Amino acid sequence: MGRVHNEILPGRAHNPNLADYDQAVAHFKWEDAERYFTWYETGKVNMAYETVDRHVREGRGEKTALLYSDPVRDESYTFADLQEKSNRFGNVLRKYGIGKGDRVFLFMPRQPELYFCLLGILKVGAVAGPLFEAFMETAVKDRLEDSGAVALVTTPDLLHRVKREELADLRHIFLVGGDSDPQKGLLDYESESASASPELEPEWLGLEDGLIMHYTSGSTGKPKGVYHVQRAMIQHYYTGKVVLDLHEDDIYWCTADPGWVTGTSYGIFAPWLSGVTNVVRGGRFSPRDWYKTIERNKVTVWYSAPTAFRMLMSAGSKSLEGVNLSSLRHVLSVGEPLNPEVVRWGDKVYSQRIHDTWWMTETGGQLICNYPGMDIKPGSMGRPLPGITAAILDDSGNKLPPYTMGNLAIKTPWPSMMDRIWNNPAKYEEYFQIPGWYISGDSAYMDDEGYFWFQGRIDDVINSSGERIGPFEVESKLIEHPAVAEAGVIGKPDTLRGEVVKAFISLREGYIPSPELKAEIAAFVRSGLSAHAAPKEIEFKMKLPKTRSGKIMRRVLKAWELHLPAGDLSTIED
Ligand code: WT7
Repeated sequence: MGRVHNEILPGRAHNPNLADYDQAVAHFKWEDAERYFTWYETGKVNMAYETVDRHVREGRGEKTALLYSDPVRDESYTFADLQEKSNRFGNVLRKYGIGKGDRVFLFMPRQPELYFCLLGILKVGAVAGPLFEAFMETAVKDRLEDSGAVALVTTPDLLHRVKREELADLRHIFLVGGDSDPQKGLLDYESESASASPELEPEWLGLEDGLIMHYTSGSTGKPKGVYHVQRAMIQHYYTGKVVLDLHEDDIYWCTADPGWVTGTSYGIFAPWLSGVTNVVRGGRFSPRDWYKTIERNKVTVWYSAPTAFRMLMSAGSKSLEGVNLSSLRHVLSVGEPLNPEVVRWGDKVYSQRIHDTWWMTETGGQLICNYPGMDIKPGSMGRPLPGITAAILDDSGNKLPPYTMGNLAIKTPWPSMMDRIWNNPAKYEEYFQIPGWYISGDSAYMDDEGYFWFQGRIDDVINSSGERIGPFEVESKLIEHPAVAEAGVIGKPDTLRGEVVKAFISLREGYIPSPELKAEIAAFVRSGLSAHAAPKEIEFKMKLPKTRSGKIMRRVLKAWELHLPAGDLSTIED
């Protein structure tokens, strides 16, 4: 340790007290994070209390909590506002008999009401399930069905994607922005909230009680409901200090949508546990608007993703003309490999190094990171946080020496580790086959200074623009199309998006390959599942490579695509 890497950026050391990893350990400990919470005194917690009410109680009620803007709206809310709005919605939920342990889902674009409602759900001890607004019918139905959600908050625009008649558990729908019809179980968020009391005693919970669910994809089966409990707040608070480097006066912007775990762990929990002002931008990505968002709000800490940085990079210097980004003190990235060239570009454009962080939906919070003051090696995800042990293991659980590629594994437990996969204990167990370790599904190696370097996924999971796509979910949708006999889906390398979805398809009798048919099949997935899961490329094949048991061999498809040797074909059908 301490060996100086020759690409360290001089100047703008954000936090002079954190010159080194060891000092980070000394600076802030897990125990400090534990002691911070009411749990330490009363044995009880509630995430919504800790993120909102405590700031009001401790005299920060008039501080700005949320700075929201989109092309139409421009609004700001204090912690006292958040308390009132979440209390009102909490009371609405209680009125309809919704409380501790119930799953309440949210399916709506980023807008202030999403945040009020999510906090209201947590206030009454229910488990929040935010869904990305781009999900289509099948994706929404699968998630609501599996979770047994009893209520949903959505908007009139998205309502038609919710197949209510097929969802037996779904009792109430709250509509944000009009078109309610109580006769049909469609309740009006605004009027219900307006007539509810602004006072509410939160449901006091234990650290093991439910918090939030995020569905994520593996290589087989439907998406898995990754279930997190209140205990995760210890990690969110700790990493907010040690990794995000949040201080009282920071203006923080995490660009992720709450439909993904980054948008809740680091778009809601970490910043508000620390009581900092949180910027949320609605609407679509636009380089100019993004930079304007930083300039206008004087954002100091910015957490985004490699795809966004690559798009900003390709937008060129024109997008930077006349914008002042000098407020930025700390820039971070997550979700996919952060290319060294992007890091070096960031050195110039943001006058500082982009800090890569590694974690997953299942881990609930950051685990391997570049944190302030640490020597950053472009291309490395960084080092395990103080208090986290990571290792590279072979398939039998033996530790591999530096510079050897293997399974990236984390010693169990840590506070924000998932508590279960909803309804699927067997899937949960798959992560913990090696006693004492969580196996991430990523392959990586460690160098001789303890830095970790990402190599790829071990399974067939596709990462397109930081969004995790399960090939099985796409294949299942594809074969619902009348022309499709069989389908195999892989990730194809792409300079902008990391990977894009490519589908190999064999057609049913009577269908003739054509560009029109390709477009139609892609549109079918886009409208049934979601735009990001729709194949960007389709290739028709007479026959797909299969094992003797009939499983399509994605590995062989990938080798075809990359013009590589297909490897061991001993299990292939013929
Ligand atoms: C997968 C997890 C929780 C963050 C958002 C993604 C990939 C994540 C990095 C990184 C290379 C990364 C891994 C991981 N990934 N961060 N810094 N460098 N790859 O969460 O959707 O659960 O995906 O994203 O493959 O397993 P997710």
